[in-house]
Amino acid sequence: MLATSLKILNEHYQALNNEGEDVIQGLIQSPKTLPPKYFYDDYGSELFEQICELPEYYPTRTEAWILQQYADEIAQITGACELVELGSGSSTKTLFLLDAYQKIANYCRYVPIDVSHGILKSTVLKLQQKYPNLFVEGLIGTYEQALTKLETTFASSRMIFFLGSSLGNFNPRECDDFLSKITRALQPGDYFLLGIDLQKPKEILEPAYNDSQGITAAFNLNILSHLNWRFQGDFDLNLFTHQAIYNQNDAQIEMYLHCKKTHEVSLEALDFQVCFADGESILTEISRKFNLVNMQKQLETHGLKTLKTWTDPKEWFGLILCQA
Ligand code: AVJ
Repeated sequence: MLATSLKILNEHYQALNNEGEDVIQGLIQSPKTLPPKYFYDDYGSELFEQICELPEYYPTRTEAWILQQYADEIAQITGACELVELGSGSSTKTLFLLDAYQKIANYCRYVPIDVSHGILKSTVLKLQQKYPNLFVEGLIGTYEQALTKLETTFASSRMIFFLGSSLGNFNPRECDDFLSKITRALQPGDYFLLGIDLQKPKEILEPAYNDSQGITAAFNLNILSHLNWRFQGDFDLNLFTHQAIYNQNDAQIEMYLHCKKTHEVSLEALDFQVCFADGESILTEISRKFNLVNMQKQLETHGLKTLKTWTDPKEWFGLILCQA
């Protein structure tokens, strides 16, 4: 059995990099915002796994279908390579890719990266049992931390993949920054596999973020619990309600927490207090919906040339394989 490891990228990060500064920056803005990465403490990652199973939440199962159909083809096109996944979570969809690469190579390295320690640990253990000759190196940290780390790691051939349309969380400027970092972490000839949610009617999009079981609402509110334990905060979850709407102009789902009563919140570890007014909202997430052709053009401007794209029969979700 090959070794498996789990590395924490953010050791000493707190002291060195002003952890929580992004929370303060978001909350002093008007309108207030929070970085979506704070959804994913261990409980948030668990709630996200539940979202993926919801009847209304089509992206996960649609992308899984595409991967199941075309994983062999992706492995054929790219050949053996080091597989690096950003925001890997439970790696459930990734199993299709890992199976496909096992068929073409007898040695393979998989590097799952996630901010949630709990889910990454159980994923790495599960994969070690399922694939005895796969070398798994889990990295706990943010995309930025991981991509900087990867730049200095040499691998003969690498495929970075970013599934689930997590790219949709970035506004256009952040998206460009992110793609530049991807390019820097790749050598010429390396691959990038991107999963994106495509534009579709509001009638399908809005229920996906307002499920009847209230799991998405719990996921949204959990961002406040996370801030409470991480930064010694006193957010009262009963004073906020979940809302998700589709903004047709910007082609994005916007997820909000609306405040029901004027009050003050303190984040003691950050030495920060902030006032919330009755009716005020926090934008906790945007989830942009893309156009497959435009995305290929944007990737091209970052030196990422599309080799092939795949979609499902309804064209709800797209997968793009490109090469640096
Ligand atoms: C993991 C960011 C792609 O935007 O659809 C699901 C997160 N938020 N339901 C998405 C999410 C609410 C998800 N991403």
